[in-house]
Amino acid sequence: MKVAKILLVLIWFFCIYVSTSFSANVTYDHRALVIDGKRRVLVSGSIHYPRSTPEMWPDIIQKSKDGGLDVIETYVFWNLHEPVQGQYNFEGRADLVKFVKTVAAAGLYVHLRIGPYACAEWNYGSGFPLWLHFIPGIQFRTDNKPFEAEMQRFTAKIVDMMKQENLYASQGGPIILSQVENEYGNIDAAYGSAAKSYIKWAASMATSLDTGVPWVMCQQEDAPDPITSGRSCFCCGTLLPARWNFSELLYGFKLFKIGKELMPQLFLLPARKQYHGGTNFGRSAGGPFISTSYDYDAPIDEYGTIRQPKWGHLKDLHKAIKLCEEALTATDPTITSLGPNIEAAVYKTGSACAVFLANNDGTSDANVTFNGNSYDLPAWSVSILPDCRNVVLNTAKISSVSTISSFTTESLKEEIGSSDDSCSGWSWISEPVGISKADSFSKIGLVEQVNTTGDRSDYLWYSISIDLDAGTQAVLHIESLGHALHAFINGKLAGPGKEAFLSPYPTLLKLNATLLENAANGTGNNVKVDIPVTLVAGKNTIDLLSLTVGLKNYGAFFDTAGAGITGPVILKSLTDGNSLDLSSQNWTYQIGLKGEDLGPSSGSSGQWNSQSTLPTNQTLIWYKTNFVAPSGSDPVAINMTGMGKGEAWVNGQSIGRYWPTYASPSDGCTDSCNYRGAYQASKCLKNCGKPSQTLYHVPRSWLQPENNTLVLFEEIGGNPEQITFATKQIASVCSHVSESHPPHVDLWNSDAESGRTVGPVLLLECPYPNQVISSIKFASFGTPHGTCGNFKHGNCSSNKALSVVQKGCIGSSSCRIELSINTFGDPCEGIAKSLAVEASCA
Ligand SMILES: *[C@@H]1O[C@H](CO)[C@@H](O)[C@H](O)[C@H]1NC(C)=O
Ligand SMILES: *[C@@H]1O[C@H](CO)[C@@H](O)[C@H](O)[C@H]1NC(C)=O
Ligand SMILES: *[C@@H]1O[C@H](CO)[C@@H](O)[C@H](O)[C@H]1NC(C)=O
Ligand SMILES: *[C@@H]1O[C@H](CO)[C@@H](O)[C@H](O)[C@H]1NC(C)=O
Ligand SMILES: *[C@@H]1O[C@H](CO)[C@@H](O)[C@H](O)[C@H]1NC(C)=O
Ligand SMILES: *[C@@H]1O[C@H](CO)[C@@H](O)[C@H](O)[C@H]1NC(C)=O
Ligand SMILES: *[C@@H]1O[C@H](CO)[C@@H](O)[C@H](O)[C@H]1NC(C)=O
Ligand SMILES: *[C@@H]1O[C@H](CO)[C@@H](O)[C@H](O)[C@H]1NC(C)=O
Ligand SMILES: *[C@@H]1O[C@H](CO)[C@@H](O)[C@H](O)[C@H]1NC(C)=O
Ligand SMILES: *[C@@H]1O[C@H](CO)[C@@H](O)[C@H](O)[C@H]1NC(C)=O
Ligand SMILES: *[C@@H]1O[C@H](CO)[C@@H](O)[C@H](O)[C@H]1NC(C)=O
Repeated sequence: MKVAKILLVLIWFFCIYVSTSFSANVTYDHRALVIDGKRRVLVSGSIHYPRSTPEMWPDIIQKSKDGGLDVIETYVFWNLHEPVQGQYNFEGRADLVKFVKTVAAAGLYVHLRIGPYACAEWNYGSGFPLWLHFIPGIQFRTDNKPFEAEMQRFTAKIVDMMKQENLYASQGGPIILSQVENEYGNIDAAYGSAAKSYIKWAASMATSLDTGVPWVMCQQEDAPDPITSGRSCFCCGTLLPARWNFSELLYGFKLFKIGKELMPQLFLLPARKQYHGGTNFGRSAGGPFISTSYDYDAPIDEYGTIRQPKWGHLKDLHKAIKLCEEALTATDPTITSLGPNIEAAVYKTGSACAVFLANNDGTSDANVTFNGNSYDLPAWSVSILPDCRNVVLNTAKISSVSTISSFTTESLKEEIGSSDDSCSGWSWISEPVGISKADSFSKIGLVEQVNTTGDRSDYLWYSISIDLDAGTQAVLHIESLGHALHAFINGKLAGPGKEAFLSPYPTLLKLNATLLENAANGTGNNVKVDIPVTLVAGKNTIDLLSLTVGLKNYGAFFDTAGAGITGPVILKSLTDGNSLDLSSQNWTYQIGLKGEDLGPSSGSSGQWNSQSTLPTNQTLIWYKTNFVAPSGSDPVAINMTGMGKGEAWVNGQSIGRYWPTYASPSDGCTDSCNYRGAYQASKCLKNCGKPSQTLYHVPRSWLQPENNTLVLFEEIGGNPEQITFATKQIASVCSHVSESHPPHVDLWNSDAESGRTVGPVLLLECPYPNQVISSIKFASFGTPHGTCGNFKHGNCSSNKALSVVQKGCIGSSSCRIELSINTFGDPCEGIAKSLAVEASCA
């Protein structure tokens, strides 16, 4: 009895120990990362901590671990942590130490990509604080003393925080790697020879911080010793042994070919860039024009739900590659051609042998003979044979379950009596047009916006009055550096109007490289608009509201790209043909909105109006309501269809900029889609002509059951009564397996290493660990067709299928059904049969 108890305690102690303490010695050699003397293949995936909430972290990290990840990598976002120079924020979503500890608690390693330049579509160079821009003499990301001093201070601050908490592997913590700079090699040419000395400085600064684990640079071929590098870096490429062109169906992004010619120095295998993308809350989105969803089509979606079949297929892939670890890290491959477009990459040492068979042909399937055995290789696929004999996985054959997730619409239930006697439940305040704040100022000439607002607000008013002897029809010609603009004449919106408001930006979405680059460069490419206006005799007020929609996040000199109305601004009279250049006149400016100063996020101040009819389709208006949260624990989004553009706050937290009227171009989508063949950005486009985003994630932890406040600032006009909630559920779990699926090694059988092959098996698995399969919606053995949610019986169908599957699956969290005529009978002899199942979990 006593012995058993001690043993239990020991086992418990061992588990805790193993999951929270990490080996101490991380190095690397010419082949791989070496942890405690052993070369490793590690699977790494990216999760950016501020793009979800601390309440979501444990679940997302556990799902990452279940999906086969060993390492969680994240950038560190400087402007999140130091919004004002010397004033730090490490609370809530910015609690980096807590995030690293949460990863450690799950037993995973951390790759801490401090940068501090990140590359993650985050505001202003992916994370630089705007105050840096105002340091005299500063030049970003080059050999510049003021910049280097700040970069060193922040990098050292982060390293010290990690050290104090013993979070480096050298201290028993989870951090096995740190990154300094990021993807500088892509743009360093623009910085001339100073780039070289800057990179040398960055390397020696980083190593001087003495973390006891390796530093890496990414996209930096000439990374100075002892910084490791690789042409193909952890963030963008995948370090794989053979030519490796996956179906983008599964990856949704470009995978880089890795042959021996691109031999990276380390085997750290990113599952993909983003394992969980998440949400750009507040004004954190980089830009211009990136909205709040950073879903990325990642294996774990924006809401923290597993995305199938991608997640499951990657899990199989990670496992298959892990089975090759010994051979992969021991030797270079021998690459031989087995025919046109067919290659074998063989990793063979004394004790281990693994081979990757690749069919690089984008259209034709092939049968190949290797070592006297025959293998079936679908077009554009790789088969993995960890013992050089048995296939454990082919990248084109998906045996993972698929799921259908769906959103359920719920009306926005207003709190009873929350809004006086108004029947709508909404109250509102109009934002004044033009100058309304005491801190406005005047200046001769037009000012650049970023320099003026310091990004404290998206909004900058440019205001001027002119006196005319007589009324006239005119055109107001405005040139601006972007990003967007509303012009008001005598308090009324004159243009450019909802459509032109976006102009010329809709074309950006067509991924026209020249336009994108021009807009991103921000210089020499003024956005020009001509707005027809009616002017009266006497005084006319011209109020121009210029707005930024996320500051530039990428490219050389991103920090100098300006925004706002830099001119010229010219009034051209249509009646007498005269022009009046207003550019060098006396303008009055206001940074931000009156409502922003009043504390819109809390919705508690200001004179909210709720007595008269709710104004809709009105520019510059604040709306507020109290609401009851959707019940249950499913993820929640707000469906902003019906609104124009603005920002929304829930219980004081900004859920970000909304812009459902921003539609994607209507061309470029096709009905048929073939993911095979080389990647192109224009391949398999979806959603043409549709709003780029209608659903805006509200983390559950920001909601309470009742008495929640929603505040909106609407710029261009909308109807808040059309706003609804959407909650996300997984409606069905499906699997469809063919009898002709060749015998293969069961990856998840403990015999996998022994190479014992199994026949075709259908696997069903509930998405959440606390669920069981509650009903079988469809089961057919024979010739079923269709896709998950839409399966149909073929004309050959066993009448036992439903009962067999019900018996084998109901009440279990997962089940396996062998495709065998012994169980199902043979409904059509001589015909290849398959089993298709759709189930619900509860
Ligand atoms: C760490 O590992 C490296 C190479 O594997 C070895 O040379 C070094 O002595 C080890 N350091 C410690 C402190 O064990
Ligand atoms: C694999 O993909 C890369 C990147 O898209 C492409 O450059 C290469 O040509 C492809 N390889 C083959 C064999 O098609
Ligand atoms: C491969 O071989 C199988 C049978 O051995 C055959 O059914 C199939 O058509 C072959 N595929 C190709 C592309 O030759
Ligand atoms: C990009 O768009 C601009 C403006 O519409 C057009 O002039 C240019 O030809 C386009 N470039 C390409 C490569 O399509
Ligand atoms: C944008 O700026 C880069 C340098 O950062 C320059 O190489 C490129 O030519 C510019 N593009 C355009 C369209 O002006
Ligand atoms: C912003 O101001 C700085 C000087 O403080 C100036 O060097 C820079 O050119 C300005 N930026 C823009 C985009 O006008
Ligand atoms: C500009 O206009 C403001 C407000 O009307 C005024 O106070 C200021 O003196 C003017 N400045 C000049 C240089 O005229
Ligand atoms: C909104 O107002 C504009 C003019 O201010 C008008 O053209 C448009 O038709 C209105 N839209 C709706 C839906 O009422
Ligand atoms: C969002 O609301 C619009 C308009 O009510 C509706 O058509 C759409 O289906 C909703 N989207 C979701 C995902 O619920
Ligand atoms: C609702 O929340 C507000 C603060 O947001 C609080 O002042 C008020 O007392 C709450 N009302 C109820 C009924 O809980
Ligand atoms: C069964 O369906 C297939 C096509 O789905 C068709 O070709 C075949 O003729 C059908 N057989 C019978 C017996 O109806």
